[in-house]
Amino acid sequence: MWNLDKIIVKGRKKLNGEISVQGAKNSVLPILVATLLVDGISVIHNCPYLSDVDATVKILRYLGCVVKREGHTITVDSTNIKKFDVPDNLMREMRSSIVFLGGIMGRMGKAVLSTPGGCEIGLRPIDLHLSAMEQFGATITTENGFIDCSAKEKGLVGTRIILSFPSVGATENIILTATLAKGVTIISNAAREPEIKDMADFLNSCGAKIHGAGESTITIEGVRSLCGAEHTVIPDRIVASTYMIATAMTGGTICLKDIVPSHIGPIIQPLRESGCHISVDGRNVVLASPTHLKRIRMIRTMPHPGFPTDVQAQMMALTSIAEGTSVFIENIFESRFKHIGELIRFGAKINTEGRMAVVEGVKSLNGANVKATDLRGGSAMILAGLCADGITELSEIHHIDRGYEEPEKVLGVLGADIKRVNNYETTKN
Ligand code: EPU
Repeated sequence: MWNLDKIIVKGRKKLNGEISVQGAKNSVLPILVATLLVDGISVIHNCPYLSDVDATVKILRYLGCVVKREGHTITVDSTNIKKFDVPDNLMREMRSSIVFLGGIMGRMGKAVLSTPGGCEIGLRPIDLHLSAMEQFGATITTENGFIDCSAKEKGLVGTRIILSFPSVGATENIILTATLAKGVTIISNAAREPEIKDMADFLNSCGAKIHGAGESTITIEGVRSLCGAEHTVIPDRIVASTYMIATAMTGGTICLKDIVPSHIGPIIQPLRESGCHISVDGRNVVLASPTHLKRIRMIRTMPHPGFPTDVQAQMMALTSIAEGTSVFIENIFESRFKHIGELIRFGAKINTEGRMAVVEGVKSLNGANVKATDLRGGSAMILAGLCADGITELSEIHHIDRGYEEPEKVLGVLGADIKRVNNYETTKN
């Protein structure tokens, strides 16, 4: 059951000021799953308040973990894990729950999960995850929408796995399975996203032997057991990028404090092309907007360190008010253009053909009644609303709550006129 809240934005307010950035959703989820491998207590700091984090905690508790949250710290005691299955209703709460496959297999040698199926941004098959499990020596059967994955008698055995595509989730699942498997596992063409390294850093602090995370070849020497450790989740590079783009679209200046500048490297170049001034001072990044935004000739989404698919929608919102024509090619997810129909409601001029979108910048956008089509598409609607003339009413914001912690508060601090309202109140008044 999701909430029916709406976000209401009154546009044309410049954003200015400094903010800290929440912990990374795509790190905290696999790290919480990785606590399943630990025979003891893990303490994870900088966990944002997000519905996807809540969904992950529910599954951990179902499996037998004792989980406590105090502010942004989550403590997981995985000493007494009893179950190896995840019920369908819990799996469906979050697409990335497929990463439980590696966590449960690694700890229990058997996992029964329902198939996650497609979602708002694409079909999202899991063939690479399943093939990897088979290469560890597991047997897989699928029946009635459930995957039953079981290690054979000799257990899970390290192996060489060559990924045909550097899938983030498959890389995480392989690392999780290999950590307690017998022998050495080598992953070739592994995903290089910073969140993979963050999960590996946590596991290594628990006693795992993972080398090369963040690079294309990762080597994991299996160990017998892991002990508990403390870890602080990295800042969210997608959230940082979103607030930089929001500032650029409203003509202000923002300082992001204590982030990892190299993580946002792939978005700095296109933002500079659009005319933004960006300076890096240690772990602080300042973006100052130009008077007029210019087009970004071409954005092609690619695995890290290419331009992230998770920032495509927000950057498209920016180019919709930039001078000239910008072209986007979405290479990662086949259905990640659903926000375009909503951007057009603001008056944006965008044409699509297959995986290509051509954006002709307009002088200004007009506030509109729109919906969040998915997590990042939803954030792009907020950005459009922030720079549009008049009022924007955004519904289906449960998508946004999966990945952004209280965006209305963060943007409010920067000077936006934005509020969250209960849907009942808006229809009543
Ligand atoms: N793919 C396959 N077969 C597989 C696995 C993936 O064909 O077995 C395809 C997918 O269908 C997709 C592409 O490979 O077209 C990339 O998928 P990947 O496995 O790399 O992505 P993911 O692990 O499902 C994570 C993030 C996404 C992010 C992508 C790409 C998490 C929880 N999710 O998804 O984040 O877009 O990597 O960087 O880490 C988001 O935060 O909004 C989000 C969608």
